[in-house]
Amino acid sequence: MNITGRTQIAGVIGDPISHTRSPAMHNAAFAALGLDWVYVPFHVTAEDLKSAIAGFRAAGVRGINATVPHKPALLNMVDSMSDEASFIGAINTLTFEPGGEPDGRVRGDNTDARGFLAAMQDHDIAVPDGERVVVLGAGGAARAVVAALGSVGVSEIVIVNRTESRALDLAARARDRMGVAARGCPLTSDSLEEALPSAAMLVNTTSGGMHGSTPLDVDGRLLAPPLVVYDIVYSPPETDLLRAAAANGCDVLNGLSMLVHQAAIAFECWTGASAPVDVMRDALVASL
Ligand code: ATR
Repeated sequence: MNITGRTQIAGVIGDPISHTRSPAMHNAAFAALGLDWVYVPFHVTAEDLKSAIAGFRAAGVRGINATVPHKPALLNMVDSMSDEASFIGAINTLTFEPGGEPDGRVRGDNTDARGFLAAMQDHDIAVPDGERVVVLGAGGAARAVVAALGSVGVSEIVIVNRTESRALDLAARARDRMGVAARGCPLTSDSLEEALPSAAMLVNTTSGGMHGSTPLDVDGRLLAPPLVVYDIVYSPPETDLLRAAAANGCDVLNGLSMLVHQAAIAFECWTGASAPVDVMRDALVASL
């Protein structure tokens, strides 16, 4: 890496940040395209978030990704934001217009919803337009998935969550703000038995199934073709849910490709260049 006086800076903020895989993906992409850019991690606490953003703006940093816990707080710290970021209630990408203080403006975006759809396209999984989709979970990741599905014309989104009130709230948000048919229900065997047989796709957005968390309680017999099962967890690459679905012959997809594509979309926001997705995927896999 050759840092020069013209090197452009991008990075990621979080607390903690040491686990981030984003530098591996973005620096590999800059190198592959011969761009004089560098991507670095910044450990920023919630208390310092506002001054960090002001500092990035003043220093001419071009782009910032945000991870836990900063994504919701950034909604109040940008000059403009995309509709997706507003619906999701979280910003994962900041783009700074060149110019620095006092004129540099900051735009907030959320690339998770487009990353979710791009990963499906990449893996030849058909968009379930005109069909019912079941989403497990009602947190930030679920809002991104609902934003994506609401934009492709599904016939109904059924949001199933351990805490029913959060499922009802997210369904109401989808109906009110996206005009999509959506309903919420509790994570029970009855709800799944009712919703899954007529669904085209099941998406898990919960951390159930991630390394170290309590596995999800979904009856494997409900996972049968033509149901497609998409688990946005990427570690482990094959959750119990995906293993059961694949064993029954369902098409399955894990969250690795979504992670790559949400990064690729941020890269394109900042550089204007077409992201080398395969290079980014290889760098991510090598970093895991
Ligand atoms: P994120 O931003 O990653 O979505 P979150 O907002 O904390 O994180 O949401 C986590 C989601 O995973 C929630 O829907 C949570 O259910 P609750 O709303 O009932 O808390 C869900 N979740 C986490 N662990 C789970 C488990 N073991 N079984 C079922 N749902 C789980």
